[in-house]
Amino acid sequence: MKEIKIFAPATIANISCGFDVLGCCLDTIGDEMVIRKSPKKGVKIIKIVGMDLPYKTNNNVAGVAALALLDKLEKEIDFGFEIEIYKKIKPGSGIGSSAASAAGVVFAINELLEKPFSKIELVEFARKGEELACGSPIADNVAPAIFGGFTLVNNTDPLSILQLPTLKDLYATIIHPQIEIKTSDSRAVLPNKIPLEDGVKQWANVGAFVHALHTNDYDLLSDSLTDYVVEPYRSKLIPEFNKIKKNALKEGALGCGISGSGPSIFTFSRGIQIANNVLDKLSSIFHNTHIESHHYVSKINTQGIKILSIK
Ligand code: HSE
Repeated sequence: MKEIKIFAPATIANISCGFDVLGCCLDTIGDEMVIRKSPKKGVKIIKIVGMDLPYKTNNNVAGVAALALLDKLEKEIDFGFEIEIYKKIKPGSGIGSSAASAAGVVFAINELLEKPFSKIELVEFARKGEELACGSPIADNVAPAIFGGFTLVNNTDPLSILQLPTLKDLYATIIHPQIEIKTSDSRAVLPNKIPLEDGVKQWANVGAFVHALHTNDYDLLSDSLTDYVVEPYRSKLIPEFNKIKKNALKEGALGCGISGSGPSIFTFSRGIQIANNVLDKLSSIFHNTHIESHHYVSKINTQGIKILSIK
C-alpha cells in the first residue's frame, strides 16, 4: 500500500446539551485527502485545493496531527508522507473543518502503516491538530469523525471515548450562514462559571440524550436537545438564530442548536422528508437577508472516515 484516498467527514460537536463532549458524524459533507508514502522522511503538504490554508507542516492541523502520530511510532520508518488536501468544509464553519483534516490524515497514515494504532490513539493524535486550530485539544469533532455515529468524550485525561448508538431514521439539516466564527473567539464569549441550576438541567439533558439513543426514543431525544449553558451566549454571534430555531421546530424538527462553535446551525429530524422540509424553510430565511448560506441534509454516518481508493 503506497497511497490512500479518503473521505474525511464533517461533524456536529456539542449537540446542544453536550458542550465539548457529544458529537456526531455526517455523511454528505466532507473533504477528500490523498496521503502517499514518499522516499523523503517526515510530512510534507504538497497540495491544498479549495481553501487558503498553510502548507508549512507545523502550521497546518493535518501536519501537526501527522507529526504527533509519527512521534509515537515504536520503530523508526525510513520513508515519509505527502499530503494532498481537497478541502470542501470551510474553516470557521462549525462543522468540524479542522477535525476532518486532523482525523483524516492520522486515519490514512495508520492504514498505510497497517494499523499500528487504535481508534482512541488516533483521536489523541488528531486532537493535537485541534489544539493548533483553536487553542484547546478538543475531541468532540475528531472522535465522531474517527469512530463514526455519535460519540461521547467521557474523559479527556486519560482520553476516553464512548461510541453511542444512533437512531435509524435520524437526519441532520445543516444551515451554514457564510460568515466565519473562529472557535477560539466563540470559546472566548463563554463564562468560566455557570449557575448550579443550569448545570443540573444540562447534565440531566445529556443523560436523557444518551438514554434516548439507547432506547430509540425520538421524543426523549427531542426533549433533551436544549442547551442552558452555551447557546445563550453564542447564539448572539449568529444572525437569525432565534428565527431559524423557531421555524425549524415549527416545521417538525426534533431540535435545533449551534453546530460546534457556529455559525452553522443543525437540526435533527425523524425521516428525510421532514429534514428536507426544514431545509427549504430555513434556507428561505437567509434568502431574505444579505447573508448567503449553504445547506445540507445528511444521515448520521455510522462509519466515519471512508476509504475511497488504495494503491
Ligand atoms: N466543543 C467545541 C466548541 C467544538 O464548541 O468550542 C468546536 O467545533
